[in-house]
Amino acid sequence: MDLKAKIRNIEDFPEKGVIFRDITTLIKDPEAFEYVTDTLAERVKGQDIDMIVVLDARGFLFGSPVAYLLRKGIVPVRKKGKLPADVYHVEYQLEYGTGQLEMHKDAVKEGMRIAIFDDLLATGGTAKAACELVELAGAEVVSLNFVIELTDLGGRDALGGYDVFSLVQY
Ligand code: PRP
Ligand code: ADE
Repeated sequence: MDLKAKIRNIEDFPEKGVIFRDITTLIKDPEAFEYVTDTLAERVKGQDIDMIVVLDARGFLFGSPVAYLLRKGIVPVRKKGKLPADVYHVEYQLEYGTGQLEMHKDAVKEGMRIAIFDDLLATGGTAKAACELVELAGAEVVSLNFVIELTDLGGRDALGGYDVFSLVQY
């Protein structure tokens, strides 16, 4: 399927010079959403995963249906201050300033095999922070899975050593 035809490009959002890759047009198309979900699930199926970690907020849209198909539990990694129980906490670099991500301490157990899902890989800062959270819990990041990869921003290199997969590259 031509996924690029389903993803809307918005110039100068959220700021001048950025082309925003808008997945809302993809997820409202049932065939495209099914194709993306099935393809991601097929890839992760053979990885002997215990749990699926999904990244706030657009990662929830793609990782959760995959978890359902594979009959795995979902663990959300959320932006600071959203999770109610004890959390692991990491800071990461954004284009301007820093971001903070959290995961419940009791969400994944030591030794578990984890697949991480997000909509888009840019610099890799968000995904790297998610890997740190999983590893703080003593679990193993088996794969990182994205719908979109912005190759010029070097995310794949920033995630050197991890198994990184994307469906569409710009
Ligand atoms: C976007 C996107 C990824 C991240 C990628 O999320 O959904 O999570 O940026 O960028 P990076 O590779 O440079 O870290 P954003 O923080 O905008 O949050 P949202 O999903 O809540 O819109
Ligand atoms: N997150 C970071 N860069 C992005 C882009 N160009 N489009 C959509 N989401 C993004």
